[in-house]
Amino acid sequence: MASSVSVLLALSLLFVTSHLYVSASYSPVPLVNGLAWNYYQSSCPKLETVVRKHLKKVFKKDVGQAAGLLRLHFHDCFVQGCDASVLLDGSASGPSEQQAPPNLSLRSKAFEIIDDLRKLVHDKCGRVVSCADLTALAARDSVHLSGGPDYGVPLGRRDGLNFATTLATLQNLPAPSSNADSLLTALATKNLDATDVVALSGGHTIGLSHCSSFSDRLYPSEDPTMDAEFAQDLKNICPPNSNNTTPQDVLTPDLFDNSYYVDLINRQGLFTSDQDLFTDTRTKDIVQSFASDQELFFEKFVIAMTKMGQLSVLAGNEGEIRADCSLRNANNPSFPASVVVDSDVESKSELVADPRPGPVKPFQDGTSSSTSYQHLHIPVKLMEDFLRLAQKNTAKNLETCGVLAGSLKNRVFHITTLIIPKQESTSDSSKE
Ligand code: HEM
Repeated sequence: MASSVSVLLALSLLFVTSHLYVSASYSPVPLVNGLAWNYYQSSCPKLETVVRKHLKKVFKKDVGQAAGLLRLHFHDCFVQGCDASVLLDGSASGPSEQQAPPNLSLRSKAFEIIDDLRKLVHDKCGRVVSCADLTALAARDSVHLSGGPDYGVPLGRRDGLNFATTLATLQNLPAPSSNADSLLTALATKNLDATDVVALSGGHTIGLSHCSSFSDRLYPSEDPTMDAEFAQDLKNICPPNSNNTTPQDVLTPDLFDNSYYVDLINRQGLFTSDQDLFTDTRTKDIVQSFASDQELFFEKFVIAMTKMGQLSVLAGNEGEIRADCSLRNANNPSFPASVVVDSDVESKSELVADPRPGPVKPFQDGTSSSTSYQHLHIPVKLMEDFLRLAQKNTAKNLETCGVLAGSLKNRVFHITTLIIPKQESTSDSSKE
């Protein structure tokens, strides 16, 4: 096969790499076990640049997609934790989380954008970055590229293997008809306090809402807490049973700023869950302080987003890194069935084959012997890198030779390095 690796296990190198991580404290929120600010520093150093560059292009064409991506992260995190379960397609076992009523108004384009990011990032770094992390980064960039704060996102989330039921989705995502009391109670179960509730609701400073999400405040009678002129404007946009949409922040619809709180003071909040924050005594002062101090809002928003972004995350051995954000790997027909990925990203490896000819003998004991067969662990990323590097030759039906180097531990050869020497190739040979 033209792109096969000629395995030359001449070297048994033990690489002791010491990584000096600078612990950048981006926010006072403690990190949960398994997440780190610089999680992909060595496995995908360009991750955040790739994501931001792509989203800049997307938002240049349609700024509204930023709101869709921000809401997607919220809906992911509140139901079963930030595990990208909301991205999974349904299965024979039942309707997906996506099909639960509160998720039906998520933008379909948001799902596409996340998988586009996944493709770009996996092409560059291999399958090391989770869809859950990409969703968190996309939310951060949506905020920042719409005028909001830039902030560090703790990374290392793994993707969930299952999606939540419709009931669990309904129980965890508050309805727009909720009053502040029920919001405070519901979010307290996720360790989010009154400041977090008010700050997170500030996400409604961008994006659109369908008329159905607030028509209970217009018909059969107008909600007296809504400004009468605003109610009339909304009635014009939203006749009964309309499927129209309207901006959530009437003052600066596409800008991530603090004018959402000014709307609430003007009694121009769209949902009961928004407007009641300016009625309830536990939240009113917070609304007022954010309306008069945008920096304060940004600071508290980053704290609340960092808390939300760490809700029940999967890390370490848990979950997986999906090869397609809408499918768990076991259901992905284009995902090689033999791949069993280690949880440890640094030494992410896969048992592939015994490199030498002859029958594979099972391990008898834990000791190393020159006569017993050894197994070979090759990092998935390394194989993907090799295939990418060999691609040009393969297209011309030329063989590519790669030298694999690594270290032997308990009769398992752990490949850590791929060397591609200068070479001349034909369709079935290559020489250095
Ligand atoms: C606190 C409870 C919340 C409730 C009850 C709520 C409810 C809603 C509803 C009903 C919509 C409109 C859906 C539609 O009709 O199309 C919406 C849109 C939106 N929500 Fe929330 N939300 C909440 C919290 C949040 C949070 C925490 C964020 C992000 C930090 C957020 C970000 C958004 C965004 C950006 C949109 C616009 C989406 C778009 O334009 O596609 N929401 N929300």
